[in-house]
Amino acid sequence: MKKLMIASIPGDGVGKEVVPEAERVLKAVSELHGGMEFQFSSFPWSCEYYLEHGTMMPENGLEQLKGFDSIFLGAVGNQNLVPDHVSLWGLLINIRREFEQVINVRPAKVLKGLTSPLVNPKDFDLLVVRENSEGEYSSIGGRIHQGEDEIAIQNAVFSRRGIERAMRYAFELAKSRRGHVTSATKSNGIVYSMPFWDEVFDEVSKEYPSIHTDSQHIDALAAFFVTRPEHFDVIVASNLFGDILTDVGAAIMGSIGVAPAANINLNGKYPSMFEPVHGSAPDIIGKGIANPIGQIWTAKMLLDHHGETELGEHLLQSIEHVTSKGIVTPDIGGKHSTTEVTNEIIKTLQNIKL
Ligand code: NAD
Ligand code: IPM
Ligand code: MN
Repeated sequence: MKKLMIASIPGDGVGKEVVPEAERVLKAVSELHGGMEFQFSSFPWSCEYYLEHGTMMPENGLEQLKGFDSIFLGAVGNQNLVPDHVSLWGLLINIRREFEQVINVRPAKVLKGLTSPLVNPKDFDLLVVRENSEGEYSSIGGRIHQGEDEIAIQNAVFSRRGIERAMRYAFELAKSRRGHVTSATKSNGIVYSMPFWDEVFDEVSKEYPSIHTDSQHIDALAAFFVTRPEHFDVIVASNLFGDILTDVGAAIMGSIGVAPAANINLNGKYPSMFEPVHGSAPDIIGKGIANPIGQIWTAKMLLDHHGETELGEHLLQSIEHVTSKGIVTPDIGGKHSTTEVTNEIIKTLQNIKL
Protein backbone atom coordinates (compact mmCIF):
# COMPACT_ATOMS: atom_id res chain seq x y z
CA MET A 1 0.00 0.00 0.00
CA LYS A 2 1.39 3.37 -1.02
CA LYS A 3 1.10 5.85 1.83
CA LEU A 4 1.61 9.56 1.29
CA MET A 5 2.36 11.71 4.31
CA ILE A 6 1.00 15.18 3.63
CA ALA A 7 1.68 18.30 5.70
CA SER A 8 -1.42 20.41 5.47
CA ILE A 9 -1.24 24.18 6.07
CA PRO A 10 -4.71 25.73 5.60
CA GLY A 11 -3.29 29.18 6.47
CA ASP A 12 -5.66 32.15 6.45
CA GLY A 13 -9.10 33.13 5.21
CA VAL A 14 -10.70 30.83 2.67
CA GLY A 15 -7.60 28.61 2.85
CA LYS A 16 -9.17 27.25 6.04
CA GLU A 17 -12.42 26.60 4.15
CA VAL A 18 -11.09 24.91 1.00
CA VAL A 19 -8.19 22.83 2.33
CA PRO A 20 -10.38 20.49 4.45
CA GLU A 21 -12.70 20.08 1.45
CA ALA A 22 -9.86 19.08 -0.86
CA GLU A 23 -8.58 16.70 1.83
CA ARG A 24 -12.01 15.03 1.83
CA VAL A 25 -11.69 14.62 -1.92
CA LEU A 26 -8.21 13.08 -1.65
CA LYS A 27 -9.49 10.68 1.01
CA ALA A 28 -12.34 9.67 -1.31
CA VAL A 29 -9.81 9.10 -4.11
CA SER A 30 -7.73 6.84 -1.86
CA GLU A 31 -10.79 4.87 -0.71
CA LEU A 32 -11.74 4.26 -4.33
CA HIS A 33 -8.26 3.27 -5.37
CA GLY A 34 -7.52 1.00 -2.41
CA GLY A 35 -3.81 0.91 -3.25
CA MET A 36 -2.99 4.21 -1.64
CA GLU A 37 -3.58 6.15 1.52
CA PHE A 38 -3.13 9.75 2.58
CA GLN A 39 -2.12 10.71 6.05
CA PHE A 40 -2.64 14.42 6.72
CA SER A 41 -0.93 16.32 9.53
CA SER A 42 -2.34 19.80 9.91
CA PHE A 43 -0.24 22.81 10.95
CA PRO A 44 -2.04 25.95 12.24
CA TRP A 45 0.58 28.37 10.89
CA SER A 46 -1.17 31.57 9.88
CA CYS A 47 -1.57 35.24 10.80
CA GLU A 48 -3.49 34.22 13.94
CA TYR A 49 -0.58 31.99 14.89
CA TYR A 50 1.69 35.03 14.41
CA LEU A 51 -0.36 37.10 16.86
CA GLU A 52 0.13 34.43 19.50
CA HIS A 53 3.76 33.50 18.82
CA GLY A 54 5.35 36.44 17.02
CA THR A 55 6.34 34.29 14.03
CA MET A 56 4.39 32.69 11.18
CA MET A 57 5.82 29.27 11.97
CA PRO A 58 7.92 27.88 14.80
CA GLU A 59 11.70 28.18 14.62
CA ASN A 60 11.96 24.49 13.72
CA GLY A 61 8.96 24.72 11.32
CA LEU A 62 10.95 23.76 8.24
CA GLU A 63 12.49 20.87 10.15
CA GLN A 64 8.95 19.69 10.98
CA LEU A 65 7.93 19.82 7.31
CA LYS A 66 11.06 18.31 5.84
CA GLY A 67 10.13 14.64 6.19
CA PHE A 68 6.72 14.88 4.51
CA ASP A 69 6.07 13.63 0.98
CA SER A 70 4.33 16.89 0.04
CA ILE A 71 2.92 20.06 1.50
CA PHE A 72 -0.69 21.07 0.81
CA LEU A 73 -1.23 24.76 1.45
CA GLY A 74 -4.35 26.94 1.26
CA ALA A 75 -3.53 30.65 1.35
CA VAL A 76 -1.60 33.03 3.55
CA GLY A 77 -2.39 36.64 4.41
CA ASN A 78 -4.58 38.75 6.65
CA GLN A 79 -3.61 42.39 6.33
CA ASN A 80 -5.76 43.29 9.34
CA LEU A 81 -3.53 41.25 11.59
CA VAL A 82 -0.07 41.17 9.99
CA PRO A 83 1.46 43.18 7.12
CA ASP A 84 1.42 41.02 3.98
CA HIS A 85 5.16 41.12 3.34
CA VAL A 86 5.75 39.84 6.87
CA SER A 87 3.22 36.99 6.70
CA LEU A 88 4.13 35.90 3.19
CA TRP A 89 7.91 36.02 3.64
CA GLY A 90 7.48 34.29 7.02
CA LEU A 91 5.61 31.31 5.62
CA LEU A 92 4.81 30.85 1.91
CA ILE A 93 7.91 32.44 0.38
CA ASN A 94 10.09 31.05 3.15
CA ILE A 95 9.01 27.49 2.32
CA ARG A 96 9.36 28.02 -1.44
CA ARG A 97 12.93 29.25 -1.00
CA GLU A 98 14.24 27.05 1.77
CA PHE A 99 12.79 23.93 0.14
CA GLU A 100 14.22 24.98 -3.23
CA GLN A 101 10.83 24.88 -4.92
CA VAL A 102 12.34 26.65 -7.87
CA ILE A 103 9.53 26.10 -10.37
CA ASN A 104 5.89 27.08 -10.07
CA VAL A 105 3.67 25.30 -12.59
CA ARG A 106 0.30 26.92 -13.25
CA PRO A 107 -2.09 25.56 -15.88
CA ALA A 108 -5.00 27.52 -17.35
CA LYS A 109 -7.54 25.90 -19.59
CA VAL A 110 -11.23 25.96 -20.35
CA LEU A 111 -13.17 23.78 -17.93
CA LYS A 112 -16.42 22.37 -19.30
CA GLY A 113 -19.43 24.43 -18.34
CA LEU A 114 -17.49 27.43 -17.06
CA THR A 115 -18.27 30.82 -18.50
CA SER A 116 -15.14 32.70 -19.47
CA PRO A 117 -15.43 36.50 -19.42
CA LEU A 118 -14.03 36.41 -22.97
CA VAL A 119 -16.72 37.04 -25.57
CA ASN A 120 -15.74 34.29 -27.97
CA PRO A 121 -13.39 32.06 -26.07
CA LYS A 122 -11.66 29.45 -28.22
CA ASP A 123 -10.52 26.30 -26.48
CA PHE A 124 -7.28 27.31 -24.78
CA ASP A 125 -4.99 25.07 -22.78
CA LEU A 126 -1.81 26.72 -21.57
CA LEU A 127 0.77 26.21 -18.87
CA VAL A 128 2.81 28.93 -17.22
CA VAL A 129 6.20 27.90 -15.85
CA ARG A 130 7.03 30.58 -13.32
CA GLU A 131 10.59 30.94 -12.04
CA ASN A 132 9.90 30.65 -8.31
CA SER A 133 13.07 31.39 -6.39
CA GLU A 134 14.62 34.65 -7.51
CA GLY A 135 13.94 37.49 -9.96
CA GLU A 136 11.95 40.47 -8.79
CA TYR A 137 11.18 38.82 -5.42
CA SER A 138 14.25 39.71 -3.45
CA SER A 139 15.06 41.01 -0.02
CA ILE A 140 18.02 42.98 -1.32
CA GLY A 141 17.53 46.70 -1.19
CA GLY A 142 16.61 49.29 1.33
CA ARG A 143 15.08 52.67 2.08
CA ILE A 144 17.04 55.86 2.32
CA HIS A 145 16.37 59.55 2.85
CA GLN A 146 17.99 61.86 0.36
CA GLY A 147 17.47 65.50 1.23
CA GLU A 148 13.74 66.06 1.27
CA ASP A 149 13.09 62.87 -0.64
CA GLU A 150 12.71 59.26 0.45
CA ILE A 151 13.90 56.45 -1.79
CA ALA A 152 13.25 52.70 -1.86
CA ILE A 153 15.69 50.52 -3.78
CA GLN A 154 14.59 47.00 -4.67
CA ASN A 155 17.07 44.78 -6.46
CA ALA A 156 16.05 41.91 -8.71
CA VAL A 157 18.38 38.93 -8.96
CA PHE A 158 18.59 36.69 -12.02
CA SER A 159 21.13 33.87 -12.12
CA ARG A 160 22.00 31.88 -15.25
CA ARG A 161 21.35 28.69 -13.27
CA GLY A 162 17.91 29.90 -12.17
CA ILE A 163 16.87 31.07 -15.64
CA GLU A 164 18.20 27.98 -17.41
CA ARG A 165 16.46 25.51 -15.13
CA ALA A 166 13.10 27.27 -15.50
CA MET A 167 13.53 27.36 -19.27
CA ARG A 168 14.63 23.73 -19.55
CA TYR A 169 11.64 22.73 -17.42
CA ALA A 170 9.36 24.60 -19.83
CA PHE A 171 10.96 23.02 -22.92
CA GLU A 172 10.71 19.53 -21.44
CA LEU A 173 7.00 20.07 -20.72
CA ALA A 174 6.44 21.39 -24.23
CA LYS A 175 7.83 18.14 -25.69
CA SER A 176 4.86 16.22 -24.35
CA ARG A 177 2.39 18.98 -25.21
CA ARG A 178 2.05 21.01 -28.40
CA GLY A 179 5.76 21.78 -28.80
CA HIS A 180 5.64 25.55 -28.35
CA VAL A 181 7.39 27.70 -25.74
CA THR A 182 6.83 31.43 -25.33
CA SER A 183 9.23 33.52 -23.29
CA ALA A 184 7.85 36.47 -21.30
CA THR A 185 10.34 39.29 -21.54
CA LYS A 186 10.63 43.05 -21.11
CA SER A 187 14.01 43.68 -22.65
CA ASN A 188 12.79 46.90 -24.24
CA GLY A 189 12.56 48.61 -20.85
CA ILE A 190 14.67 46.66 -18.38
CA VAL A 191 18.34 46.88 -19.28
CA TYR A 192 20.20 44.16 -17.35
CA SER A 193 17.99 41.26 -16.33
CA MET A 194 15.75 40.94 -19.37
CA PRO A 195 18.41 41.08 -22.12
CA PHE A 196 20.16 38.36 -20.07
CA TRP A 197 16.89 36.41 -19.90
CA ASP A 198 16.51 36.68 -23.72
CA GLU A 199 20.09 35.57 -24.28
CA VAL A 200 19.62 32.45 -22.15
CA PHE A 201 16.31 31.74 -23.90
CA ASP A 202 18.06 31.80 -27.28
CA GLU A 203 20.76 29.46 -26.01
CA VAL A 204 18.37 26.97 -24.41
CA SER A 205 16.11 27.05 -27.50
CA LYS A 206 19.02 25.71 -29.57
CA GLU A 207 19.04 22.56 -27.43
CA TYR A 208 15.44 21.91 -28.49
CA PRO A 209 15.33 22.32 -32.27
CA SER A 210 11.94 20.61 -32.55
CA ILE A 211 10.24 23.12 -30.25
CA HIS A 212 8.71 26.21 -31.79
CA THR A 213 9.59 29.37 -29.83
CA ASP A 214 8.58 32.98 -29.60
CA SER A 215 9.25 35.82 -27.22
CA GLN A 216 6.74 38.47 -26.19
CA HIS A 217 7.02 41.52 -24.01
CA ILE A 218 5.04 40.94 -20.84
CA ASP A 219 2.64 43.83 -21.46
CA ALA A 220 1.70 42.55 -24.92
CA LEU A 221 1.62 38.98 -23.62
CA ALA A 222 -0.88 39.89 -20.89
CA ALA A 223 -3.09 41.39 -23.60
CA PHE A 224 -2.68 38.31 -25.84
CA PHE A 225 -3.85 36.13 -22.95
CA VAL A 226 -7.14 37.99 -23.28
CA THR A 227 -7.34 38.35 -27.06
CA ARG A 228 -5.94 34.98 -28.22
CA PRO A 229 -5.07 32.59 -25.38
CA GLU A 230 -5.41 29.62 -27.75
CA HIS A 231 -2.13 30.70 -29.36
CA PHE A 232 -0.12 29.63 -26.30
CA ASP A 233 1.15 26.28 -25.08
CA VAL A 234 3.94 26.66 -22.47
CA ILE A 235 4.98 30.11 -21.29
CA VAL A 236 8.15 30.63 -19.28
CA ALA A 237 8.22 33.74 -17.11
CA SER A 238 10.16 35.37 -14.32
CA ASN A 239 8.79 35.29 -10.78
CA LEU A 240 6.73 38.51 -10.94
CA PHE A 241 5.71 38.25 -14.59
CA GLY A 242 4.56 34.68 -13.96
CA ASP A 243 2.61 35.78 -10.91
CA ILE A 244 0.70 38.43 -12.85
CA LEU A 245 0.16 36.30 -15.95
CA THR A 246 -1.34 33.47 -13.92
CA ASP A 247 -3.98 35.72 -12.38
CA VAL A 248 -4.90 36.74 -15.94
CA GLY A 249 -4.91 33.05 -16.87
CA ALA A 250 -7.22 32.34 -13.93
CA ALA A 251 -9.52 35.21 -14.86
CA ILE A 252 -10.01 34.00 -18.43
CA MET A 253 -10.87 30.54 -17.10
CA GLY A 254 -13.77 32.17 -15.30
CA SER A 255 -12.49 32.83 -11.78
CA ILE A 256 -9.31 32.93 -9.77
CA GLY A 257 -11.10 30.45 -7.51
CA VAL A 258 -10.49 27.59 -9.97
CA ALA A 259 -6.79 27.99 -10.78
CA PRO A 260 -4.32 25.38 -9.46
CA ALA A 261 -0.56 25.52 -8.91
CA ALA A 262 2.42 23.40 -7.89
CA ASN A 263 5.69 24.60 -6.37
CA ILE A 264 8.18 21.99 -7.50
CA ASN A 265 11.40 20.96 -5.79
CA LEU A 266 13.60 19.51 -8.55
CA ASN A 267 16.49 17.98 -6.59
CA GLY A 268 14.43 15.65 -4.40
CA LYS A 269 15.96 17.06 -1.21
CA TYR A 270 12.73 18.63 0.05
CA PRO A 271 8.99 18.20 -0.44
CA SER A 272 7.16 20.06 -3.18
CA MET A 273 4.21 22.26 -2.19
CA PHE A 274 0.76 22.33 -3.75
CA GLU A 275 -1.19 25.55 -3.37
CA PRO A 276 -3.81 27.21 -5.59
CA VAL A 277 -3.21 30.53 -7.36
CA HIS A 278 -5.75 32.47 -5.28
CA GLY A 279 -5.23 34.13 -1.92
CA SER A 280 -7.17 34.23 1.33
CA ALA A 281 -10.11 36.12 -0.30
CA PRO A 282 -10.91 38.39 2.69
CA ASP A 283 -14.13 39.65 1.04
CA ILE A 284 -15.86 36.25 1.18
CA ILE A 285 -14.50 34.68 4.37
CA GLY A 286 -17.05 32.77 6.43
CA LYS A 287 -19.82 32.88 3.83
CA GLY A 288 -19.40 29.26 2.77
CA ILE A 289 -19.11 30.27 -0.88
CA ALA A 290 -15.38 29.97 -1.56
CA ASN A 291 -14.80 28.03 -4.74
CA PRO A 292 -13.09 24.74 -3.75
CA ILE A 293 -12.09 23.84 -7.33
CA GLY A 294 -8.71 25.62 -7.27
CA GLN A 295 -7.70 23.65 -4.19
CA ILE A 296 -9.17 20.40 -5.54
CA TRP A 297 -7.50 20.78 -8.94
CA THR A 298 -4.29 21.49 -6.99
CA ALA A 299 -4.85 18.10 -5.32
CA LYS A 300 -4.90 16.60 -8.83
CA MET A 301 -1.45 18.14 -9.42
CA LEU A 302 -0.29 16.50 -6.19
CA LEU A 303 -1.56 13.12 -7.45
CA ASP A 304 0.22 13.64 -10.79
CA HIS A 305 3.42 14.58 -8.98
CA HIS A 306 3.37 11.28 -7.12
CA GLY A 307 2.88 9.33 -10.35
CA GLU A 308 -0.88 8.83 -9.92
CA THR A 309 -1.74 10.42 -13.26
CA GLU A 310 -4.72 8.18 -13.94
CA LEU A 311 -6.28 9.13 -10.64
CA GLY A 312 -5.44 12.75 -11.37
CA GLU A 313 -7.24 12.52 -14.69
CA HIS A 314 -10.20 10.85 -13.02
CA LEU A 315 -10.36 13.69 -10.51
CA LEU A 316 -10.22 16.39 -13.21
CA GLN A 317 -12.94 14.60 -15.18
CA SER A 318 -15.11 14.56 -12.05
CA ILE A 319 -14.53 18.28 -11.53
CA GLU A 320 -15.56 18.97 -15.14
CA HIS A 321 -18.59 16.72 -14.85
CA VAL A 322 -19.77 18.87 -11.93
CA THR A 323 -18.95 22.23 -13.57
CA SER A 324 -20.75 21.14 -16.73
CA LYS A 325 -23.89 20.50 -14.67
CA GLY A 326 -23.68 24.07 -13.35
CA ILE A 327 -23.09 22.97 -9.76
CA VAL A 328 -20.73 25.83 -8.99
CA THR A 329 -20.13 28.65 -6.50
CA PRO A 330 -21.22 32.30 -7.04
CA ASP A 331 -17.84 33.49 -8.39
CA ILE A 332 -18.59 31.48 -11.53
CA GLY A 333 -22.26 32.28 -11.65
CA GLY A 334 -23.70 29.50 -9.48
CA LYS A 335 -25.73 29.34 -6.30
CA HIS A 336 -23.98 26.45 -4.62
CA SER A 337 -21.86 26.39 -1.50
CA THR A 338 -18.27 25.22 -1.07
CA THR A 339 -19.48 22.02 0.58
CA GLU A 340 -22.18 21.29 -2.01
CA VAL A 341 -19.67 21.55 -4.86
CA THR A 342 -17.20 19.31 -3.00
CA ASN A 343 -19.90 16.74 -2.16
CA GLU A 344 -20.92 16.62 -5.80
CA ILE A 345 -17.30 16.09 -6.93
CA ILE A 346 -16.92 13.23 -4.43
CA LYS A 347 -20.20 11.67 -5.56
CA THR A 348 -19.10 11.92 -9.19
CA LEU A 349 -15.71 10.37 -8.44
CA GLN A 350 -17.53 7.38 -7.01
CA ASN A 351 -19.94 7.14 -9.93
CA ILE A 352 -17.85 7.62 -13.04
CA LYS A 353 -15.49 4.88 -14.12
CA LEU A 354 -11.74 5.27 -14.39
P1 NAD B 1 -7.33 36.92 -3.54
O1 NAD B 1 -6.97 35.86 -4.52
O2 NAD B 1 -7.39 36.48 -2.13
O3 NAD B 1 -8.75 37.56 -3.93
C1 NAD B 1 -8.99 38.22 -5.16
C2 NAD B 1 -10.47 38.08 -5.54
O4 NAD B 1 -10.73 36.74 -5.92
C3 NAD B 1 -11.42 38.39 -4.38
O5 NAD B 1 -12.56 39.03 -4.88
C4 NAD B 1 -11.79 37.02 -3.85
O6 NAD B 1 -13.05 36.92 -3.24
C5 NAD B 1 -11.74 36.16 -5.12
N1 NAD B 1 -11.38 34.77 -4.78
C6 NAD B 1 -10.16 34.34 -4.41
N2 NAD B 1 -10.22 33.01 -4.14
C7 NAD B 1 -11.49 32.65 -4.32
C8 NAD B 1 -12.19 31.40 -4.20
N3 NAD B 1 -11.58 30.26 -3.83
N4 NAD B 1 -13.50 31.38 -4.49
C9 NAD B 1 -14.15 32.49 -4.89
N5 NAD B 1 -13.57 33.70 -5.03
C10 NAD B 1 -12.24 33.75 -4.74
O7 NAD B 1 -6.27 38.09 -3.74
P2 NAD B 1 -5.99 39.42 -2.85
O8 NAD B 1 -7.30 40.01 -2.42
O9 NAD B 1 -5.03 40.18 -3.61
O10 NAD B 1 -5.25 38.86 -1.57
C11 NAD B 1 -5.86 38.61 -0.32
C12 NAD B 1 -4.80 38.11 0.64
O11 NAD B 1 -4.28 36.85 0.19
C13 NAD B 1 -3.59 39.02 0.77
O12 NAD B 1 -3.15 38.94 2.08
C14 NAD B 1 -2.59 38.42 -0.19
O13 NAD B 1 -1.27 38.74 0.09
C15 NAD B 1 -2.86 36.95 0.01
N6 NAD B 1 -2.49 36.07 -1.09
C16 NAD B 1 -1.98 34.85 -0.75
C17 NAD B 1 -1.70 33.92 -1.73
C18 NAD B 1 -1.15 32.60 -1.33
O14 NAD B 1 -1.05 32.31 -0.16
N7 NAD B 1 -0.81 31.74 -2.25
C19 NAD B 1 -1.98 34.22 -3.07
C20 NAD B 1 -2.51 35.47 -3.38
C21 NAD B 1 -2.78 36.38 -2.39
C1 IPM C 1 0.94 33.77 -5.48
C2 IPM C 1 0.86 34.96 -4.56
C3 IPM C 1 2.18 35.21 -3.87
C4 IPM C 1 3.23 35.47 -4.91
C5 IPM C 1 2.12 36.39 -2.89
C6 IPM C 1 0.99 36.24 -1.92
C7 IPM C 1 3.42 36.64 -2.22
O1 IPM C 1 0.40 36.08 -5.25
O2 IPM C 1 1.33 32.69 -5.04
O3 IPM C 1 0.56 33.91 -6.66
O4 IPM C 1 3.35 36.60 -5.42
O5 IPM C 1 3.98 34.53 -5.22
MN1 MN D 1 -0.30 35.67 -7.26
